[in-house]
Amino acid sequence: MCGIMGVIGGHDAVPALIDGLQHLSYRGYDAAGVAVFNGEHIQIRKTAGSLDKLKTLLSGQPVRGDVGIGHTRWATHGAPTDCNAHPHTDARERIAVVHNGIIENERALRLQLAAEGVEFRSQTDTEVVAHLVAKYLKETCDLHCALRKAIEAIVGAYALVVMSVDEPDRLYAARKDSPLVIGLSAGTGRGQKAPLQFGETGQSPALNGAGYIASDIPALLPYTREIILLEDGDVARVQRDSVTIWDRSDTIVLRESKTIHWDQEAADKGDHITFMEKEMDEQPDAAARLLEAPLLQAAIPERVVFVACGSAYHAALIGRQYFAQLAGIPSEVEVASEFRYESPLPLNNAMCLAVSQSGETADTLAAMRQAKLRGARAVAIVNVQDSSIAREADAVQWMHAGPEIAVATTKGFTTQVLALLRIALEWGRRREWLTAGAARSWANDLNKLPELMREAIADTERARRFATAHIAPRLVFFIGRGLDTPTAMEGALKLKEISYQHAAAYAAGELKHGPIALIEIDVLVIALCTQRELLPKTISNIREVKARGAYVLALCQRRDEAALKQAADEVWTLPDAPDALMPLLAVLPLQRLAYEVALLRGCSVDKPRNLAKSVTVE
Ligand code: AGP
Repeated sequence: MCGIMGVIGGHDAVPALIDGLQHLSYRGYDAAGVAVFNGEHIQIRKTAGSLDKLKTLLSGQPVRGDVGIGHTRWATHGAPTDCNAHPHTDARERIAVVHNGIIENERALRLQLAAEGVEFRSQTDTEVVAHLVAKYLKETCDLHCALRKAIEAIVGAYALVVMSVDEPDRLYAARKDSPLVIGLSAGTGRGQKAPLQFGETGQSPALNGAGYIASDIPALLPYTREIILLEDGDVARVQRDSVTIWDRSDTIVLRESKTIHWDQEAADKGDHITFMEKEMDEQPDAAARLLEAPLLQAAIPERVVFVACGSAYHAALIGRQYFAQLAGIPSEVEVASEFRYESPLPLNNAMCLAVSQSGETADTLAAMRQAKLRGARAVAIVNVQDSSIAREADAVQWMHAGPEIAVATTKGFTTQVLALLRIALEWGRRREWLTAGAARSWANDLNKLPELMREAIADTERARRFATAHIAPRLVFFIGRGLDTPTAMEGALKLKEISYQHAAAYAAGELKHGPIALIEIDVLVIALCTQRELLPKTISNIREVKARGAYVLALCQRRDEAALKQAADEVWTLPDAPDALMPLLAVLPLQRLAYEVALLRGCSVDKPRNLAKSVTVE
């Protein structure tokens, strides 16, 4: 997703803008740009491609000033070209705008403005905003009013930062459905801080009255830990030593600032070559943290409606089986992007359980809002503090995974699954669906989980060898039964999203209803066989696909190795554990296999093409 950075005062704007955008670059982008007020004009420097390209451009054509805005763009309207990169300006280049989100009525606004004589230079929806603000500024001569009128004309999601030659000592921000945070300086009076060099990140300086705006907290941490989270409908005016915020009714409000205690360093790679490798290795510790963390306090619902996307959806599919088996609670799992447009049947006796690592996934946020409107109580399982989903839920179960930077989630997924397991066991205990003995046995098993995960994670060399031997299969199938099926889906998604190798996941029992037609020589089948009660059935499926030429890797508990060696070509054993714990173990080698294939293929593991860490648009 796009990244936004705004700076006013404190030091030369460009190094801080570049530095802030680099802290947001994990979100995925394909163009970058800055706009800086140099005392007379707004100067724009923007280019398709990486921040390095922008830095090269700036080295050749420097711009100086202590007020500026910057943007990394993930293309939605219009290809990733220099012209479509943000910031965008009005015709007279007196206003510059950066924007995250999607303007759904862009076409109508563009036609209306063109009819009024506006000539557009880009294909973006954002340029419409620049011209709207310019239009209303002519009528109101006040940037706050002009911006308010512009956002009232917009339909869609936006995080906007606007600067103007007419009000050079102010930056304006507005948000709806796309996050935006404001950083407050320590403020030790005025004066200029020495200009930062590229890449130099200011220590948290005793700042000389500086204000910051960004689309995510990490961009601000090198400069300040005092953060204000804008809410939907807010318009903010940020100056060197003050912030004024108007709510959706255009009434001035006081938004309390929060002090951020977590460290950016925790989000740095350490001695790993990629964030994904670091985060895979962190999973046992993340599980241990979550096992010690406070558990959701909420009334037990009659039924649960899960809403989630991607890997979080796979975690929810596992959660559905946990709630049924361990707590006797029925639930349904909805793809959030589908649920938000479904028929609005009442959900008065239901809990909507939104699962989201980032807490900013637009579809999940919209689905949770939709469920609340239909009468459901909203609970969220979230990793990122102060995220939109966390703020709007009625109750939150924190995942405690720590910052997850790699686009492909690993510890996010396993902590979501573990959070769901803990909630299911707690509800099962409270409802006496689980006997006291079973509850005690589970508590004991959970205490062993981090060590079991460390054992399951270890075999990196094995994964590398397998990936090398199967670097380009004709097709890849992941199959499983029961809890192994959503784990198979997650394994397939990991392989697709980081190595670009297509993979399909199926309930093993479904193969005979069509997909088995695709099985032939050179087809790789990864069979998850960790659910012991279903093992004979899955072994039959392995025999069926082998008979048609497939090469089969089976993952199973160590105690079932002999049985699987009779059926599969290769067996990857996992520690013995209760069937319900196995998704947390089986997914680890699947993550590692996908990772090794991606490395061998030279893929950008942390930032796969076309993907973003937090999908804050529809
Ligand atoms: C996971 O590897 C993917 N990056 C993606 O499917 C992700 O799980 C999905 O976008 C949901 O994200 P969230 O958990 O932040 O809501």
